[in-house]
Amino acid sequence: MIIREKISNILKSTEYNKEVTVMGWVKTFRNNQFIALNDGSSMSNLQVVVDFANTPENILKKITTGAAISATGTMVESLGKGQTVEVKASKIEILGESDAEKFPLQPKKHSLEFLREIAHLRFRTNTFNAIFKVRNALSFAVHQFFNERGFVYLHTPIITASDAEGAGEMFRVTTLPFENTPRTDDGNVDFKEDFFGRSANLTVSGQLEGELGAMALGEIYTFGPTFRAENSNTTRHLAEFWMIEPEVAFADLEDNMNLAEDLLKYTIKYAIENCADELDFLTTRLVEEEKNKPQAERSDLTLMEKLNFCLENSFERLTYTEAIEILKRSKPNQKKQFKYLIDEWGADLQSEHERYLVEKHFKKPVILTDYPADIKSFYMRMNEPDEQGRKTVRAMDILFPGIGEMVGGSQREERLDKLQSRMDEMHIPQDELYWYLDTRKFGTAPHAGFGLGFERLVLFVTGMTNIRDVIPFPRFPKNAEF
Ligand code: 4AD
Ligand code: MG
Repeated sequence: MIIREKISNILKSTEYNKEVTVMGWVKTFRNNQFIALNDGSSMSNLQVVVDFANTPENILKKITTGAAISATGTMVESLGKGQTVEVKASKIEILGESDAEKFPLQPKKHSLEFLREIAHLRFRTNTFNAIFKVRNALSFAVHQFFNERGFVYLHTPIITASDAEGAGEMFRVTTLPFENTPRTDDGNVDFKEDFFGRSANLTVSGQLEGELGAMALGEIYTFGPTFRAENSNTTRHLAEFWMIEPEVAFADLEDNMNLAEDLLKYTIKYAIENCADELDFLTTRLVEEEKNKPQAERSDLTLMEKLNFCLENSFERLTYTEAIEILKRSKPNQKKQFKYLIDEWGADLQSEHERYLVEKHFKKPVILTDYPADIKSFYMRMNEPDEQGRKTVRAMDILFPGIGEMVGGSQREERLDKLQSRMDEMHIPQDELYWYLDTRKFGTAPHAGFGLGFERLVLFVTGMTNIRDVIPFPRFPKNAEF
């Protein structure tokens, strides 16, 4: 058994003269005497003072950045700046050497782009230590939030035969060979010969299965990986991302909005309360980074101020139709500065429009509801047509400053006939989704749910700007390294 004290515990302690063994990775080694040691348990390093005269030369040589060591010694009060305790080592053992010439992480600032290329080592940096601690806290907070409210955590399948969004863009799962692929008489691939006896893919959303759970268990949520083969090389899209999808029986769109707003505020508050050091570090990081930007592009609020602002204010709620009016009259639209000008009701909102609404107009998170039926999914509940005969659905999108769409959801169409005619209109085969339609045939009831893109939440809370930096090993077009 290995007995060691975690650095986070030592840094909190004042048990001077206690004998301890610490293990960690060397960040720096100054003057053949002072080791900054980190074991991942804390953002801060522990100073280990080496007994220079009594430590063999061959050990001293191996105390290099990146090396793993074990140090045994006594805890003493530290005179160093910013620390109260250090360890005066009587014995140093090298657990794993690290060739200083070859170790890619030097004790200096590296660009995020460079760190992305060495994602297998970037956890060793302060920035990524902080990001993944916050990610962990947010993930725990999500489970705690739903657990406190009696929701059932439902594990929906990763391999499915349905396309929940009716949008294509799926990764196929198959064991069929590329050469001599079995074909039917009319020349198509014969999926009957495939592993599942039919065409299968990685899930784009657990919603449809989640609805089945909610229509019996009452309130469920999923939290798992989802996959989209969309070719979007943006700072907001991943090919593999984690989504949280609650689904609630006997709930309408307003309940849905309240639940989403509560969830977002709860998780952000949890991070503020449990990740003080990390958020402090990330706040300073962002201030430093913004110094490289022109004054006009810097944000008025620091990261911590942004998070608190989000907790203290209610999200602005308005309909798509109201938003279109605001956008039509907006300066960038009048001056033709939008890439896609808004001239007609029915246009899909681009991220430039969403950002205008949240960042310029309302300056806070916004919930847009009641989108045109034509631009939304088949399962959303149809509203009565308005005076002008325009058809909308009970959809909601939550838009966040700097992020854009954080949440997408809706009240679901629970009326069988309406659902069936929507499916026909949108060419969604009813026979394939017979199981989904069964919930509408046997004890249908109003229900609603949404999907929260977990990485987008982590982006917001950490103040990072590229989604590839908030998931350990990002998957995106032409990249599945590690
Ligand atoms: O808006 P989306 O596509 O909605 C659904 O999948 C619904 N079935 C959810 C539901 O009602 N249960 O995706 C939901 C959220 C988006 O708002 C966004 O935050 C995130 O998932 N998202 C992505 N995040 C990272 N990379 C991508 N490629 C994403 N696509 C969507
Ligand atoms: Mg969406």
